[in-house]
Amino acid sequence: MDPKTLVDTLAAEHTLPDDAFLALLETDEADALLFAEADRVRRAVYGTDVYLRGLIEFTNFCKNNCYYCGIRRDNHNVSRYRLSEEEILSCCAEGYSLGYRTFVLQGGEDPYYTDERLCGIVSEIRERFPSCAITLSVGEKSRASYQAYFDAGANRYLLRHETADEEHYARLHPASMSLENRKRCLYDLKQIGYQVGAGMMVGSPYQTTENLLCDLRFLEDLRPHMIGIGPYLTHRDTPFRDMPNGSLALTLRLLAILRLMFPRALIPATTALGTIHPQGREMGLRAGANVIMPNLSPKDVRRKYELYENKICTGEEAAECRSCLDRRVEAAGYRTVVSRGDAK
Ligand code: SAM
Ligand code: FES
Repeated sequence: MDPKTLVDTLAAEHTLPDDAFLALLETDEADALLFAEADRVRRAVYGTDVYLRGLIEFTNFCKNNCYYCGIRRDNHNVSRYRLSEEEILSCCAEGYSLGYRTFVLQGGEDPYYTDERLCGIVSEIRERFPSCAITLSVGEKSRASYQAYFDAGANRYLLRHETADEEHYARLHPASMSLENRKRCLYDLKQIGYQVGAGMMVGSPYQTTENLLCDLRFLEDLRPHMIGIGPYLTHRDTPFRDMPNGSLALTLRLLAILRLMFPRALIPATTALGTIHPQGREMGLRAGANVIMPNLSPKDVRRKYELYENKICTGEEAAECRSCLDRRVEAAGYRTVVSRGDAK
């Protein structure tokens, strides 16, 4: 298929045969058409609306040891922190006054936050901010734990699958972690009734185009409400310190492909995209993304949640500068809205 036929077929059918997906992933010839079509589809479903999520990175302790991640357990150069319930609630209060109607509580897998503690925090946020969505992103848990958080008032859950290929998964994670359990978590979350977000890093070490195809097929099966992707970015204190960063161009291409596959999905222009290029998140919006997740954590801990090097967190992109953010989004051709921003 020529580039135009590839893009037209994807837009019409929301999927492609394997060889066509591989061809589309590997060429830049279709990019201009792909981005234009993705933008047309996002405008047809969501208009120019960009939803904001206030990201609260509440702990950088983690019991896991993913080879790519800067806050992995064995990185002893990290200055570890935890936010108290009061600190988390004051982040939410600040976010609410800035117009945020979704709070994302993200952290490493930190056993300090037992189900009881986490449920206490979630139900307190639910009570104080009844009009807001609460998103959790705290890793792999039992179905019973996910159910408890849901019952306490959480609505959404972000858990990237990272890669849907078994062999590739095993090259990114220690043997104590498995793709099987990751997938089990995602299907459990969906069944419980969460709006679920999955996704992968683009250009993670050893990733092949076939791996990305496998990711697309997995997403077709899971049908998540949210899909978070961003370039892999290297961190000096991980086993992958000598590996190259993922590519901006391939991330943008995948964003557009995902928008055409899942017209209604909530797709963030991620922090990693804004880190790899100063205009990365604006480019992401123009390639089909419709969500931005500014940092709402207390300023003194932001640098400590360093998943990868040079992570943006303190400048105009931070949550407290709503007017800077609004201007950037408007310059890209869209507008931020004060809304929970549920999936349509
Ligand atoms: N512990 C939770 C979990 O595992 O889902 C949430 C925190 S985890 C650090 C959030 C995401 O950061 C991961 O799903 C991964 O995709 C991303 N991440 C970690 N290290 C990264 C890196 N070096 N480059 C890009 N993204 C990275
Ligand atoms: Fe914390 Fe991977 S290192 S979840």
